Amino acid sequence: MGYQDQIDLSRVPQHIAVIMDGNGRWAKGFGKLRVFGHHNGVKSVREVVEAADDIGVKYITLYTFSSENWNRPKLEVTAIMELLVSALSKEIAQMMKNNVKLSAIGDLDMLPPRCLRELTSSMEKTSGNTGIVMTLAISYSSRRELTQSAKNIAQLVKDGKLNPEDITEEVFAQNLYTHDLPDPELLIRTSGEYRISNYLLWQIAYAELYFTPKLWPDFRREDLFEAVLDYQKRERRFGKTSEQV
Ligand code: FPP
Repeated sequence: MGYQDQIDLSRVPQHIAVIMDGNGRWAKGFGKLRVFGHHNGVKSVREVVEAADDIGVKYITLYTFSSENWNRPKLEVTAIMELLVSALSKEIAQMMKNNVKLSAIGDLDMLPPRCLRELTSSMEKTSGNTGIVMTLAISYSSRRELTQSAKNIAQLVKDGKLNPEDITEEVFAQNLYTHDLPDPELLIRTSGEYRISNYLLWQIAYAELYFTPKLWPDFRREDLFEAVLDYQKRERRFGKTSEQV
């Protein structure tokens, strides 16, 4: 029996977050430049999003480019930005066919204008789609997002629109980029690294963490199903005892 058949469709995580890592090492294994890995990483994105949709996942959020990634060699940064533009324009037809709604979180103002234009236009085109929501975290830093939330709230208090006593977890969450998304129940990181790397720190408070040694370009449909199966084998307690859940 394949992994997909073993999945309990009534207990699929509604939101999966992914740290796509290992593109550079994958390319190196073939004696190629790092961007070769990023190109092949796009194939994994396509397959994994389709696989997630097939089992009923409602939201998938992909760590595409961190704020720290701006510090990579200029050539690589340019190549990734170009890749984003070309991948978005190539994949738009498929996204429409699959009813995928594209979204983005992060400091998008940092993006080169062409890249931002392509992203915005793809988001507009897919805005009426009602299938899986694919969110790209680009120029994203969780600490920056949290800091920004604190700033927004401070401003509301300063303007007399909010009392400090009324600052709840919900108010805080409403001021994050992810205000339209439920918290992920499952976080996947590829490439054998056991780190969170400034990703969705608030949102993953109760997420199950899944680490795999596979490099991102090798992580495909069956690998996603395997991760979901692993998730389903675990018991989620939210701080309660086994007897309470
Ligand atoms: C991490 O591998 C990967 C990235 C920083 C870029 C990921 C981007 C893509 C897969 C393209 C996405 C495109 C769309 C349309 C979503 P790494 O370079 O850190 O690899 P390493 O750890 O082996 O060096």
